Amino acid sequence: MGRVLLLYSGGLDTSVMLKWIQDEYGAEVVALTVDLGQPGEDFEVVEGKALRLGALECRVVDAREDFARDYVVPAIKANALYGGGYPLFTALGRPLIAKLAVEAARASGCDTIAHGCTGKGNDQVRIEATVATLAPELKIIAPVREWRMGREEEIEYARRHGIPVKGGTEAPPYSIDDNLWGRSSEGGPIEDLSAPPRDDVFELVTRPQDAPAEPQDVAVEFEQGVPVALDGERLDLVSLLERAAELGCRHGVGIVDHIEDRIVGLKVRDLYEVPAAAILLTAHQELEKLVGTIHQNNFKHTLDRHWAYLVYGGLWHEPLLGDLNAFMDSVNEQVTGTITMRLYKGSARAVARSSPNALYDADLAGFGESGGLFSQSASPGFIELWSLQSRMAYAVRNRGKETS
Ligand code: ARG
Repeated sequence: MGRVLLLYSGGLDTSVMLKWIQDEYGAEVVALTVDLGQPGEDFEVVEGKALRLGALECRVVDAREDFARDYVVPAIKANALYGGGYPLFTALGRPLIAKLAVEAARASGCDTIAHGCTGKGNDQVRIEATVATLAPELKIIAPVREWRMGREEEIEYARRHGIPVKGGTEAPPYSIDDNLWGRSSEGGPIEDLSAPPRDDVFELVTRPQDAPAEPQDVAVEFEQGVPVALDGERLDLVSLLERAAELGCRHGVGIVDHIEDRIVGLKVRDLYEVPAAAILLTAHQELEKLVGTIHQNNFKHTLDRHWAYLVYGGLWHEPLLGDLNAFMDSVNEQVTGTITMRLYKGSARAVARSSPNALYDADLAGFGESGGLFSQSASPGFIELWSLQSRMAYAVRNRGKETS
C-alpha cells in the first residue's frame, strides 16, 4: 500500500484512523472531506485538523449543489422513503462521496481508499460497492472493521497521540450522520427500544411541544417534480432545501423514530431529524396525486418503494435504478404546481393545492347539472359490469348454502 485516500469527517473515528493508517501501514494519507451541507460544520477546522494529524493534504469538496441536483431531486421524484419513514439522506450521500473519493484518489496518486464505516452497517456496502464499480483497480480498507478498538480504546488512542476529542468523554454517545437532507442518530441509549428518545439526541428540530403556538403556511412550488420556489420566491436548490429545513425545524417537523431493516441483516433503531424532507416529500406526493391518473398513482408506489430499496442497498449504479429513473422523470413531467403546507407543532400537512395539470376539474367532469364528460346516468351500467366478477364469485362460492 503506497498512498491512502481517507474519507475524513473530522470526527473521532476518522481522526484516529488518519494516524493509525500512517503508523500501522506506514502509508501516506491524503484526506478528503465532502461538504454535503452538514449543518454547522466548519470545514476549515476539519482541514486544519487533518493536516495537523499528518495528512499530506486535505481536499475539501463542496458538493452541495451536485448532491441536491443529482441525488436529492431524483429521491423527491421517487417520493423516496425507505421503510415508510427514512428519506435516505445518508444512503443518497454515500455514492456521491464514493465517486468523489475515486476522483481524488486518482488525482493524488492513491492506490487505496479508506473509510470509517463499521462492519455492521449499510454505509460500508454503499461506499465499497460504488468504488468497486467505478474503480475496480483501487483497494479499499475499513480500519474500524479490523482494529478492534471500542470507543474507550479509541479515546485512549486519541489521548496518546494528541488527537483532540470533541466534547471529551462527556459527549453523548451517539453515532451521527448528517447532510442537507437530514440527520440521523444511532447507538448508545437509542438501542434501548423500551425507552423514548432522550432530549439530547435532537440538535436540529425543535421539540413539537416547544414549537410556536401559531401554525405557519408555506407554499411549495414544483416544476416537473423539482421544487423551485417557496412562498413565491424562486430559490436555487440548495437554498430552497435549507430554507425548508429551517421552517421545519422551527415547527418541530420531521422527527422520525424508526426501526429499520439494514441490508446486512440487522435491525436498527434510528432517530431522524428530516425537516426539509418531511415538508417537500409530502408536498411532492400531494401534487403527484393531483396530476396522475388512478392507474399511475396506484402503480407508482410500487416503483417508488423499489427505488428506495435499491438506493438504501447502495446499488446506485444498478441498471434497474436507471430504468426506474426514466419512469420517474416521465411521470414527473406533469408534476407542476403549488402545494401549500401547514406547519404546526410537529405536523406538516397539505392545506391547499393548485396545478395547471390537475385532473381535478369541476367543469370537465361535469359536476352539478351541466353534463360534461361525467354522466351520472352511465353509473348504473358501470356498477353492473365493474362488480360482475365479484358478484359471480360470491354466488358460486355460496351456492346451496342458504338452502342447507
Ligand atoms: N440507518 C441509516 C442508513 O443506513 C443511517 C445511517 C447513518 N450512518 C451513520 N454512520 N451513523 O442509511
